[in-house]
Amino acid sequence: MASVALLKVGVFSASLIPLGVLVQRITANDLGPDPGQVITESLGIAAFQLLLATLTITPLRKLTGWNGWMRCRRMLGLFAFFYAVLHVLAFLQLILGWGDLWSTFTKRPYIVVGAAAILLMIPLTVTSTKKMMKRVGRWWKPVHRLIYVSAVLVWVHFLWQARSDVTEMAVYGAFLLILLSLRAYWFGVVSLVPLRKT
Ligand code: HEM
Repeated sequence: MASVALLKVGVFSASLIPLGVLVQRITANDLGPDPGQVITESLGIAAFQLLLATLTITPLRKLTGWNGWMRCRRMLGLFAFFYAVLHVLAFLQLILGWGDLWSTFTKRPYIVVGAAAILLMIPLTVTSTKKMMKRVGRWWKPVHRLIYVSAVLVWVHFLWQARSDVTEMAVYGAFLLILLSLRAYWFGVVSLVPLRKT
């Protein structure tokens, strides 16, 4: 029980680090010539990292056999959504402005993909409480599998807006692929053991 509480405090504090670092950099005037871009990018990266961390929880539980990991999964997911919302707000406030939102969100394909990713995160966030879990019943699991689609869309969004170096995206992509392949394996979609002939 104490270890779960410790884990939750650790995850909560760690999730606030990107925001703390950003605030510290803003107050120190240390964001370079294009602060709007740096702020938007940092918040986007934090959102993606937390989304990946959320997806890491089930493999961690399966591999270690410790159910305590599951107690911080909701918190990580909510932090991912929190940073994603800040990322979009920063983009609107600091880069493109609030005029003609429809064309802002539909003109560039990578923004359309990002918008789809955050839209998919909304039902997950809304149904993340215990009360909603009960209300949604057997649909809860299928709804929450939308997180896989959202994570892939975020990765595409990330890759699409990249200007030159794609090494970082390749590393994130490889990590996401491992996380999704593990699920495919556990769901029985992929079998590492050849099926026996009858
Ligand atoms: C309506 C939704 C979204 C909009 C309008 C949007 C906008 C942007 C923009 C403009 C950039 C490029 C920033 C720049 O370099 O100038 C960007 C990059 C990025 N976004 Fe989004 N985004 C959206 C959704 C998301 C979501 C849901 C996530 C993650 C959960 C995300 C994660 C990222 C990441 C990881 C980058 C790359 C940052 C980097 O280059 O270091 N975005 N987004």
